[in-house]
Amino acid sequence: MKDYKRYLITAALPDANGPVHIGHLAGCYLPADIYCRYQRAQKRDIKFVCGSDEHGVPITIRALKEGVSPQEIVDKYHALIKESFEQMGISFDIYSRTSSKIHHETAAAFFKKMYEEGLFEEKETDQFYDEKTKTFLADRYIVGVCPVCGNPNAYGDQCERCGSSLSPEQLINPRSALSDAVPVKKKTRHWYFPLQHYESWLKEWIIQGHKEWKNNVYGQCKSWLDSGLQPRAMTRDSNWGVKVPLPGAEGKVLYVWFDAPIGYISATKELTDKWADYWCKEDTKLVHFIGKDNIVFHCIIFPAMLKAHGNFVLPDNVPANEFLNIEGEKVSTSRNWAVWVHDYINDFPNQQDVLRYVLCANAPETKDNDFTWKDFQDRNNSELVSIFGNFVNRTLVLMHKLCNGKVPPLHGESLQDVDNGMIREFEASKKKVEESIENYKFRDALYEVIDLARKGNKYMQEKEPWIIAKNKEELQKTNDVNKTEAMGELQKSIDNSLHICLQLTANLAILIHPFLPTTAKKMLYLLKVVDKILDWENAGKSKLLSVGYSLREPQLLFRKIEDSEISFQVEKLRAGLVNPIEKKPNNETPPSKREENITPANLPGKKSTIEFEDFAKLDLRVGTILSAEKIDKADKLLRLVVDLGTEKRTIVSGIALQFLPEEIVRRQVVVVVS
Ligand code: 2FM
Ligand code: ZN
Repeated sequence: MKDYKRYLITAALPDANGPVHIGHLAGCYLPADIYCRYQRAQKRDIKFVCGSDEHGVPITIRALKEGVSPQEIVDKYHALIKESFEQMGISFDIYSRTSSKIHHETAAAFFKKMYEEGLFEEKETDQFYDEKTKTFLADRYIVGVCPVCGNPNAYGDQCERCGSSLSPEQLINPRSALSDAVPVKKKTRHWYFPLQHYESWLKEWIIQGHKEWKNNVYGQCKSWLDSGLQPRAMTRDSNWGVKVPLPGAEGKVLYVWFDAPIGYISATKELTDKWADYWCKEDTKLVHFIGKDNIVFHCIIFPAMLKAHGNFVLPDNVPANEFLNIEGEKVSTSRNWAVWVHDYINDFPNQQDVLRYVLCANAPETKDNDFTWKDFQDRNNSELVSIFGNFVNRTLVLMHKLCNGKVPPLHGESLQDVDNGMIREFEASKKKVEESIENYKFRDALYEVIDLARKGNKYMQEKEPWIIAKNKEELQKTNDVNKTEAMGELQKSIDNSLHICLQLTANLAILIHPFLPTTAKKMLYLLKVVDKILDWENAGKSKLLSVGYSLREPQLLFRKIEDSEISFQVEKLRAGLVNPIEKKPNNETPPSKREENITPANLPGKKSTIEFEDFAKLDLRVGTILSAEKIDKADKLLRLVVDLGTEKRTIVSGIALQFLPEEIVRRQVVVVVS
């Protein structure tokens, strides 16, 4: 393997003409995020860049139909998409946008250099034209019958039903997507990139040089290259986009697939002055995470552009995923058949990690996969709750019960084979997770982490420290003369099993962190250790927690998802009520937001029992929360104004990680008044 000094990771720029759905997450943003979080834990020099693609044809069509400017459309969706990514914990180093000044300058300069070096062919051709709206009809401005599958609504660049790449000339019975008019032909001048000149280089670079790429990616590239490349127009007639930087080119902009990938470069420029280190030095590992519909652009057209321009590194890998269907059907934004990310966050507050888990465990890595709400529930209840959460919870509960809430010592002389076997599993799991992530096999990596937790449960079941504790209690009651020594031996067995389970819990926090970052942080809170422990070099070690260190009372990491929550989501999807824009789907509160969100086990700082006399001394009053707001630079704190009936009090409470401010306004709470 080449010794890379830095990593530049890109995730496809989403079109700012609608919100993101879970298929987008599963396709590229989640795997990219897992990869980046892992590389950061490895202490590698890495930049993770993305941003909104704001020049796509669907944006202008939407703007025309809604009677607003394209800028208004992109402003609205850029903000919504950015927020959805943040809420899902997608840890971009920058989330930029292609309407920015720096992008327009970068893309125009890129084009100009290629133009000045004579790398384009200028051609005048007849193109379809809509006389009603006075628009040339390229790409998605024109629709018609697909010559391959007969889809009556295929676009001028692609048929979404069969996936064929098309040109407007291939459509049967073409019509304007703007006015439905039958188009006429009209002459127009454009700059073409002669891709055929790069064909033999591309064959050498991909077919010979990148046999390790995923089968779906390699196969698609091979079929494009086998059918021969054609010149491709890199400009369009439009007023929305990056203006062609040449005299006499008024009304012409760069083709969106010319400017969008350059968006990766402009976002890096915006992020750091050292952008050229990441883009131009040979020891950079450039990886593009994308969905399968973007393969040709990232594996053939953009690399050919980079090669033609010169001075840029080429992608080391393009690990494209296939598509995620929903309840057995393809996602369709027009039919509202989708699970929108902001809608999920609204219905399942603080449950981002559950969605991350399900989308990774069921990721369409090698073929199209299906997301069902039932599978979402099953994976949560039988994997996150019953395996991972259960192991961590049992460990902490037993440690508090049998070891006074402190990390017990490890008695080397009393270790059994089963103990040593468990310790060896830490190291083995680390290697397997690492290897799978490095090879873009995120499902396998996640499976390995859950399997380690499963092994932890099995180990605990074999060791049965609670039975040994019972035996110890029984022994205590006897008059056996050797009981002190025998009890000591039993305690050693308890100590060893809980010591190992606690070290395993710390290992699980490190291994799960790239996948479920919020869960990992909760585990650190329970173990009372700092973020530094998440450094990858700590994985596989069995001495992460110091003996005698006292830990927090257990809290559940995950909660069960009820049948009612699932049927609510399925009904909502079938009724077309999933909401592509608004924050609130409808007036009905989803079951997932009803009271069961708050359980005693979820409440932070649960304490042991006190005497009634002490309890009676407290002045307890019921108050209503009038307002709640986050406090700057204090992640855990909310500032509440509470109406106690006789007075209003401002209370600062450490519950910001458990409750959203808007969730708790108007709720009644018990206040301890002093
Ligand atoms: O398919 C899409 O959603 C495009 N907006 C992806 C662009 S990726 C890159 F080239 F910018
Ligand atoms: Zn088709």
